[in-house]
Amino acid sequence: MARYTPIRPGIDQPLSWLAGMTPRQFMRRHWQKKPLLVRGAFPDFRPPICIEEALALCADDMAPSRLVRRQPRSGRWRLQHGPFAPDEIPDIRRANWTVLIQQVNTRLPAADRFLDAFRFIPQARLDDLMISVAGPGGGIGAHVDSYDVFLLQAAGHRHWEIAQTFDPQLQDDVPLRILQTFHAQQEWVLAPGDLLYLPPGVAHRGTAVGPGCMTWSIGFRAPDRVSLADAALSRHIDSLAHADWHDPWLEATEQPAEIPARLLRALARQVMRDMPDEAGVRRAVARLLSEPAAEAVFDAPRRPDTPQRFLQRAAQRGLRLAPASRLLYADGEFHLNGEELGGGWRAAERRLLETLANDRCLPPGSACLERLACLHEAYRSGWIVYN
Ligand code: SIN
Ligand code: CO
Repeated sequence: MARYTPIRPGIDQPLSWLAGMTPRQFMRRHWQKKPLLVRGAFPDFRPPICIEEALALCADDMAPSRLVRRQPRSGRWRLQHGPFAPDEIPDIRRANWTVLIQQVNTRLPAADRFLDAFRFIPQARLDDLMISVAGPGGGIGAHVDSYDVFLLQAAGHRHWEIAQTFDPQLQDDVPLRILQTFHAQQEWVLAPGDLLYLPPGVAHRGTAVGPGCMTWSIGFRAPDRVSLADAALSRHIDSLAHADWHDPWLEATEQPAEIPARLLRALARQVMRDMPDEAGVRRAVARLLSEPAAEAVFDAPRRPDTPQRFLQRAAQRGLRLAPASRLLYADGEFHLNGEELGGGWRAAERRLLETLANDRCLPPGSACLERLACLHEAYRSGWIVYN
């Protein structure tokens, strides 16, 4: 396989696929703010993954998938979860169905590489590249996402309708979150290479026009408040040592059900003292952001090289993050797939790890590579591979 070289855009470089804006301008004007339609964003776009390859991913549960069908007469929706045998997926010419395949970037290196174009957006916010394939009339109905999403028309045509003001009531008894009423305020038919960016909270409906419709959705998750708090607190709580309680000052009472004020205050203060400090919370949040998708699969080498051989080969060939790996850094600490990566880095080592995190690869002959023995464990787990 050809060596992987990243093509991350510069943040002050005007990009035709952002309608001539620089990434910095796009973030300031559109991100989380307003939709953007770019006709011919990726002219002559040839998807590195064809419809057949995408559909093959749902055959053996390599990526989570859903099949959504709509009965045209009754208007009833049906949702099935994968994996799907090839004969369970309707023929591409049949109407009113769509298959949604998530986490394609974590399974296929070509899809992970395609995301380089979007790497001006902090990776901590990236969710996945989802591919949808649909027969004529196929779609998932009018809905609202809490995600920022770039919708790239990869093949065929899709009719997009959006509304920025709408009634949020959802249909009852439907296995999907579909709006009860939807009146489009803007609509377009997207052709291959066209791109639509939608911030969260914009109602939208995408309907395949004709057969062979494939849409790529590059989705950016909003960190969930409950899981953030859970991550920050639970690990810290697990690390607390049990201690015996002492209250020699406790007094006799005639209201045994009443919690004595002094007891409650002392216990509450103890809990407050046991809360993690800000540095601990920052570390826990960073670690959580680096966790791979729940369904991520890593292919560990069957006969891994020894640490010494690994460093030699890494220096010769360079290294690459496995598509499902997430390597993030903050506060001088590196977090790989939810685990902290050593510590006490010298400046040159830190720069090397930053390059690996930002570019998702290290070129051959990188200086100092021989000092990064801590990467051997990640290589043994299949989190890092030779380039
Ligand atoms: C699709 O690609 O069919 C659905 C994407 C979306 O509406 O979020
Ligand atoms: Co959507």
